[in-house]
Formats: sequence, structure tokens, C-alpha cells
Amino acid sequence: MAKSDSKSASKPDPNPKFSHRDPSHPDFWSERFEQDFTPWDTGGVPQALQQYVARAKPAATLIPGCGSGYEVAFLAEAGWDVTAIDFSSAAVDAARKVLGKWSERVLQADFFTYQPQQPLGLIYERAFLCALPPARRAAIVSRWAELLPAAGTLAGFFYFDDAPKGPPFGISRVELERLLHTDFELANEQDVTDSITVFAGKERWMEWRRRG
Ligand SMILES: C[S@@+](CC[C@H](N)C(=O)[O-])C[C@H]1O[C@@H](n2cnc3c(N)ncnc32)[C@H](O)[C@@H]1O
Repeated sequence: MAKSDSKSASKPDPNPKFSHRDPSHPDFWSERFEQDFTPWDTGGVPQALQQYVARAKPAATLIPGCGSGYEVAFLAEAGWDVTAIDFSSAAVDAARKVLGKWSERVLQADFFTYQPQQPLGLIYERAFLCALPPARRAAIVSRWAELLPAAGTLAGFFYFDDAPKGPPFGISRVELERLLHTDFELANEQDVTDSITVFAGKERWMEWRRRG
């Protein structure tokens, strides 16, 4: 479903006021979903994911921090066994509205403690790493590595920027490679041609293979 279909008819407040300042806490995100302030939201399925699904073998997939979760329906309809999680109740509500018959694929859960029901083949990354403060990066990478078996894939969009404030918190290429190289090797990457404004010119599609 397109983003415009999933939103209420009333326009979002052009000057929203937020009381939560810590993106590590679910209330930070819930408040933004509740006020319809979601500038990271693509409103659909990015082309690079569509291209990946067209050439890859279906795999048990986890989408951490799924937000509105458009990708869930896309993957499920392509025959992929997909589960999406988000720790914000408002994000889960938003995803369930978008997803209709696939809404049970979305769970309210914290990425750092969630235990998948089965071994994963793919973790799909979009606007999750950059959603959390840089101090959380090492923990995210450790959890990716714990959740994926050897030869499993971490694929998605990585946001490169050096602005000190976020979210989104951009990362440098050197820092991303430093964090990932112990447990992952880069298998493929490509430009992103359909970025939304927030990420335009600063994101790349990357596929990282879990080392054995
Ligand atoms: C910037 S949004 C991106 C949402 C979605 N991936 C997208 O591309 O539209 C980040 C999302 O990550 C979720 N999130 C942040 N920390 C989380 C955690 N520890 N566990 C699960 N979800 C988390 C937030 O609630 C929010 O919905």
C-alpha cells in the first residue's frame, strides 16, 4: 500500500513539538509516528530491494526497526518468510495498517533481545543503524552477527554523512568497514537512484556476507 493510503486525511502539524529526545527509547519514535512526522518513510519498496529479491534465493528474513514496513508485504508476496520487528507500539500500529493481510508478520519487540523462531538467512537494513546514536553501533553490529549464521546476508541501505546531529546519524565508510569487517565481508554494493530527500546522494545499497 502506498504511504498516502496509510495516513490519516488530516495534514501533519508543520511545526510538531516533541517531548522525547532519546532515539534509543521507543517513546521517541512513537511520538513521531503519532504526530505523523516520519521524514524517513519511503512510502513504498525501494528499487534496490526489488532488484535484490529478483536475483536472490528466498530466505528467512528479519527487518529490525521496520517502521511502516512496506517491504514486509513485498517480501511475503514474493514468497519470502519475513518477520519485522519494531519496539515502538505506534510504529507497529502504522505497519499493521499498511500491511493488511500480512500484518501478523510484524511484532513489537526490541532488536537487542528479540529471538527469532528459526535461523535467519537475511537481515534487511533500512534507516535502523542511522536511527540510533553512534554509541549503539557496536551493539547493533554484534547483534547482526549473533543473529546471522555463516553465509547469511545483511543487505540494505547504509547512510553516509558526517553531520554530528541526528537521527539520521550518518557514518563514514571507514567506520562502517571497521565495525563490520571482523564478522562480515562486502559481497556487493550499488548506487541508490530512488532515495527520498533525507538520504539523497548519501546512501548506498550494500550486501554483507556473514563470515564463517
Ligand atoms: C528511522 S525509523 C526507520 C523505519 C523503517 N526501517 C523505514 O525505513 O521506514 C527507525 C525505526 O527503528 C525503530 N527502533 C529503534 N530502536 C529499536 C530497537 N532497539 N528495536 C526495535 N526497533 C527499534 C524505531 O521505533 C523506528 O520505527
